[in-house]
Amino acid sequence: MENDNDEFSKELNVAVRVVHMVCSLCQKVQKQLLSSNNSNQIKSKDDDSLVTVADWSVQATVSWMLSEAFGGQNISIVAEEDVQTLSEPESSAQLGMVVSAVNECLAEAPKFGLKGPNEALGATQVLEAINRCNSTGGPVGQHWVLDPVDGTLGFVRGDQYAIALAMIDDGEVAIGVLGCPNYPVRDDSLIKYSQQCPVMSEMSSREEGCVMYTRKGSGKAWMQPLIHSDKRLELQNSARTIHVSSIDDPALATFCEPVEKTNSNHSFSAGIANTVGLRKQPLRVYSMVKYAAIARGEAEIYMKFARAGYKEKIWDHAAGVLLVQEAGGVVTDAGGTPLDFSRGIYLEGLDRGIVACSGLKLHEKIIEAVYASWESSNL
Ligand SMILES: *[C@@H]1O[C@H](CO)[C@@H](O)[C@H](O)[C@H]1NC(C)=O
Ligand SMILES: *[C@@H]1O[C@H](CO)[C@@H](O)[C@H](O)[C@H]1NC(C)=O
Ligand SMILES: *[C@@H]1O[C@H](CO)[C@@H](O)[C@H](O)[C@H]1NC(C)=O
Ligand SMILES: [Mg+2]
Repeated sequence: MENDNDEFSKELNVAVRVVHMVCSLCQKVQKQLLSSNNSNQIKSKDDDSLVTVADWSVQATVSWMLSEAFGGQNISIVAEEDVQTLSEPESSAQLGMVVSAVNECLAEAPKFGLKGPNEALGATQVLEAINRCNSTGGPVGQHWVLDPVDGTLGFVRGDQYAIALAMIDDGEVAIGVLGCPNYPVRDDSLIKYSQQCPVMSEMSSREEGCVMYTRKGSGKAWMQPLIHSDKRLELQNSARTIHVSSIDDPALATFCEPVEKTNSNHSFSAGIANTVGLRKQPLRVYSMVKYAAIARGEAEIYMKFARAGYKEKIWDHAAGVLLVQEAGGVVTDAGGTPLDFSRGIYLEGLDRGIVACSGLKLHEKIIEAVYASWESSNL
């Protein structure tokens, strides 16, 4: 962002501002959700995963803002949510909440240095904006990739979640932006908050979460505190560069993994940890905040081993992977091959799992341990 001639600097600039906008939206919805115990705002999708008013509202807002900033209706956006559930007659209450959350957020656009709509959007336009994100990506051209709320379970529990926005250019992740509303910029904040206590109640009211962003090939990644529309917009000035940890001794390394056993085999990763000589207890964290923790140097290792047959989606990884890489780290599948974002909505060909590390030395050890352990397990 420091040089306007750099490729995709406009895209990055807009993406960062839009993510700040929707972080505010999510914070408001999360507060309401936790204070009113408003189960009205949560729906089950067909696969039993949760989706909230925030997921749809963020997707509609980002879709509308990107379309406005970059050439109208035919930009390609790959995103998690569709309009099926929200379009059903039983969902009219949710749709109403989404429409008002979207309009409230879009009305703030000028305060973030962006252009909002001239008049409030109606339900049809909001559904259209959500539905426009139906691209399936691929190897050619530019595709935006969005997980409107990553870690919905963390979100509804008042814990960690992330808004993840990336852009893939000819099959490679070119920019990545991660909004982490419950991850304060202060050092060690994740370790402090993740010891089984709900984040919201622990965060002091003056602490802000962060937005992290990067551009491929810059060799740099940045972090800023969340900026609210009522503050002066100081996107550039408030940013500082972040870097991975320099710890390469397994005995001192911290490793992160998903909170839920259904998302990653905890006993397999415990075996790896033991083989490699990791001493600390795993840090179990919801959402792509795990990648953020590696990029910021608060943890050294992130391992995820999903059940056999599970296909990882690009929106769950694109922004986080680029952040770790540009901050100096390394991310591959469990066989040591870089992740392939060029093959549609899934990370096709992924070997067993995902390993992100602060440096090559730790990474090599983990991959070796995976090979050694695999024979004896039946994942
Ligand atoms: C939008 O559509 C036009 C005409 O079909 C095409 O030339 C252009 O490349 C498209 N833009 C994007 C971003 O897909
Ligand atoms: C994707 O959405 C656009 C705009 O809403 C629509 O015209 C198109 O038919 C949709 N494509 C698919 C594959 O559903
Ligand atoms: C998890 O990994 C262990 C080996 O560490 C294996 O025995 C077990 O079957 C795996 N669980 C699942 C659900 O795949
Ligand atoms: Mg999601």
